[in-house]
Amino acid sequence: MGTSSRRHAAFLCLLIVLETFSQVSANAEGDALNALKTNLADPNNVLQDWDPTLVNPCTWLRVTCNTHNFVTRVDLGDASLSGQLVPQLGQLRHLQYLELYNNNISGVIPREIGKLKQLISLDLYLNKLRGHIPTTLGNLKRLRFLRLHHNYLSGHIPMSLTTITTLQVLDLSNNQLTGPIPVNGSFGLFTPISFANNSLEYPLPTTPSPSPLPSYNAP
Ligand SMILES: *[C@@H]1O[C@H](CO)[C@@H](O)[C@H](O)[C@H]1NC(C)=O
Repeated sequence: MGTSSRRHAAFLCLLIVLETFSQVSANAEGDALNALKTNLADPNNVLQDWDPTLVNPCTWLRVTCNTHNFVTRVDLGDASLSGQLVPQLGQLRHLQYLELYNNNISGVIPREIGKLKQLISLDLYLNKLRGHIPTTLGNLKRLRFLRLHHNYLSGHIPMSLTTITTLQVLDLSNNQLTGPIPVNGSFGLFTPISFANNSLEYPLPTTPSPSPLPSYNAP
């Protein structure tokens, strides 16, 4: 190969690299999902077709977009995934459903999940998540389903969750949560089933404690 054709080849390679780079950098949501993929072990290859060089992630299996090509659903329940979640998930600003239940996901719930203002459903149940429930989840003002049961979550239930007026289904059972169970706001709806099998303190009765039982041999 002569010098000029070698230069030509080098130039073509550079173009290909630049082109790929511009596509990837223009695809923030694909990058965020690819960061998740990179952090997960996927023995059943459910993420195999997640190709970050595509213009957007809308054709990837288990990913759903709206008509403007923003990601609205990630459906990765029952997928035998292990590894950890990534803060980049907070970039999926149009996400409504984050379904990651029944996997082997460990590590913490990233506080950046609180940036997903359109989120309707956060299903992380039946995993191996540790650490606290992020206070930032209280920013999810459209959330209807919050199911975090069967993990190893610890610490207090953030009071911020009681301000989510849309919340219909809450399951924090079977974790290692401590401290009081909030009773105000949306938590007025929920029964002890939502909190079972933790080390939580049930709220004290608001009425005065009953007087001691009358004694049978009283005069
Ligand atoms: C989690 O991992 C264990 C041990 O590797 C395995 O037996 C189990 O089936 C996995 N669970 C899920 C839901 O993938």
